[in-house]
Amino acid sequence: MVIKSLRTTARKVVVVAAAGALAATGAIALAGTADAATTLGAAAAARGKYFGAAVSAGHLGEAQYTSTWTTEFNGVTPENEMKWDTIEPNRNQFNFSPADQITTQARGRSMTIRGHTLVWHSQLAGWVSGLDATNLRSAMVNHINGVMGHYKGQIYAWDVVNEAFAENGARRSESPFQQKLGNGYIEEAFRAARAADPAAKLCYNDYNTDGQNAKSNGVFAMVQDFKSRGVPIDCVGFQSHFNSASPVPSDYQANLARFASLGVDVQITELDIEGSGSTQANNYTRVLNACLAVSRCTGITVWGIPDKYSWRASGTPLLFDSNYGKKAAYTAALNALNGGTTDPPPENPPPSGGACTATVTTNQWQDGFVGTVRVTAGSAQVNGWTVTVTLPTGATITSGWNANRSGNIGAVNFTNVSFNGSIAPGQSVEFGYQGTGTGSGATTSCAAG
Ligand code: XIL
Repeated sequence: MVIKSLRTTARKVVVVAAAGALAATGAIALAGTADAATTLGAAAAARGKYFGAAVSAGHLGEAQYTSTWTTEFNGVTPENEMKWDTIEPNRNQFNFSPADQITTQARGRSMTIRGHTLVWHSQLAGWVSGLDATNLRSAMVNHINGVMGHYKGQIYAWDVVNEAFAENGARRSESPFQQKLGNGYIEEAFRAARAADPAAKLCYNDYNTDGQNAKSNGVFAMVQDFKSRGVPIDCVGFQSHFNSASPVPSDYQANLARFASLGVDVQITELDIEGSGSTQANNYTRVLNACLAVSRCTGITVWGIPDKYSWRASGTPLLFDSNYGKKAAYTAALNALNGGTTDPPPENPPPSGGACTATVTTNQWQDGFVGTVRVTAGSAQVNGWTVTVTLPTGATITSGWNANRSGNIGAVNFTNVSFNGSIAPGQSVEFGYQGTGTGSGATTSCAAG
């Protein structure tokens, strides 16, 4: 992955240099990369993904806002218009017109529409939290039926439940749904949603789940449980709100991959990264490359268009400045989306090279674990590697990512895949696995070549 990012950087330099030369002659299209797309949506579409933006109905009257949306993006999430306090402000009285203003335009342009969100403790209509359990349950199902019924057949994916977990991986206790209906409310919501619009993908969406941590492990265990019991769930949304206090985690891609390995799609649903200049641009590149590297990552949505309308405007976290100028982050995003189209076909590096070491970090929960293995080259370049992970008795690996694997118990061999076999001196790559039983205490050894 280190090598991949170096390659990406090298390619970006070439593309930018070419664009600079062409700009001087007045031809600013990215010629030279004949198939490079010139908008985010077209570039994403060429990679089989959507690139959406959160849109507010209240801004649609601003010509530049709407033209930037419809020119650059091929997806949309209504930023607030489908939330319970707006869409069902009184019991069984639905107010669809603000959201319809967005969906009508989006449908006319065949955009991918994400529905956000059905069951959430925040921006909830006041009348809901006062209900007793029986009434709350029927109000929740009626809300799902009413909203999903109105948009039936129009929505690519619904955030059925939003932000139901606390930072420690337990359920969020301040949710009235949690308090009155107990742990089962999420499952009830997903089952009702499947019945209401069987064609829509059903997502669980949350923040601070972007790396492997207690909270994402809680969500992971829930998704694993749902899949094992046949509870309908199709996707997990990673909000991906980043700033210096909450940076892009180093295992962002591995975390997407481990969820995908459960048999769900993953989506980046509310991306914004505070900052400016090349630091911000590089962070966008990392996030987009992570999605591009995970085949089940079906799309990316940024949480707004110009900085001035961001919910975190002071952090200037978006791709367009407040005058709709394209920021360095925009160029980085477009180049990342275009980049892979010019990648040479990957090859397995020939088996030769210097020594390597491997370390494993295990995230253990009650009856399962995720191991993240870091493979580091010594003072010489590594070209191909084999890591042997020796698991404690009773531990069984059920899936993995970013490595080939033989076996699932005892001493398990992992070898590099096409894109992470070459490791520059002192650099590292990561792969991971998940399993059942107790994975803590695993030991590792590494052989290069
Ligand atoms: C935010 C909107 O962007 C704001 O306009 C609104 O005032 C508050 O909500 N997690 C979510 C989004 O799931 O719905 C939130 O959106 C941001 C955090």
